[in-house]
Amino acid sequence: KSLVLLTGDIHGLFPDSRGGGFVPLEPAIRSELGDCQRCGLCSARRNIVFGVGDPRSSLMVIGEGPGASEDREGKPFVGRAGQMLDKMLLHVLGLERSEVYILNVVKCRPPKNRNPLPEEVEACRPFLESQLQAVQPKLMLVLGGVAFKALFQTPQGITRARGTWRSYAGIPALPTFHPAYLLRNPAEDVVVDVPRRVQLGARRSNGAQAPPPPQP
Ligand code: URA
Repeated sequence: KSLVLLTGDIHGLFPDSRGGGFVPLEPAIRSELGDCQRCGLCSARRNIVFGVGDPRSSLMVIGEGPGASEDREGKPFVGRAGQMLDKMLLHVLGLERSEVYILNVVKCRPPKNRNPLPEEVEACRPFLESQLQAVQPKLMLVLGGVAFKALFQTPQGITRARGTWRSYAGIPALPTFHPAYLLRNPAEDVVVDVPRRVQLGARRSNGAQAPPPPQP
């Protein structure tokens, strides 16, 4: 039932549907973050990986933490998983990466790509929440079990949670598989995780032709 309400509400909202009324907080958050030393991840990182994309987008995409390529370039999802993410966005939602806002639960690379520790997630959470406030997305796409568990502080795995609506700080959030998992398991289908009406809404405002009416 709530799925129908949510998909009804967010139908047609992607991207830039809020008429440019975003809060330009991003520079302030970056400067507050500074040369962050708030957790142990600072000692091995090369770059803080803040976030990229359109800060006015209605869609925020959230991963777990930077890998080696991201740490080197200072941008999220620029390695192989990033290329897969671009495909997911394009093929499932009809969106280019520049049309969404992409960030991670932690902004510094965990050594050897281990999962971020709870205290690292907590040290970074205020910045994530400030970014959320600044961007004010209408929907969050949560990539993979690590990000999902970190955000929702739940032991539930992504295989059960995928495609089921949650709410994070009052924002509808949809967990789905991480693109790195999809690289290893190409048979998995993430299209089924994203309600058809969300997909149609995305495509319509992406400049494509108006889609046929949503299926019941
Ligand atoms: N995986 C993530 O979760 N985030 C990145 O930025 C890159 C890979």
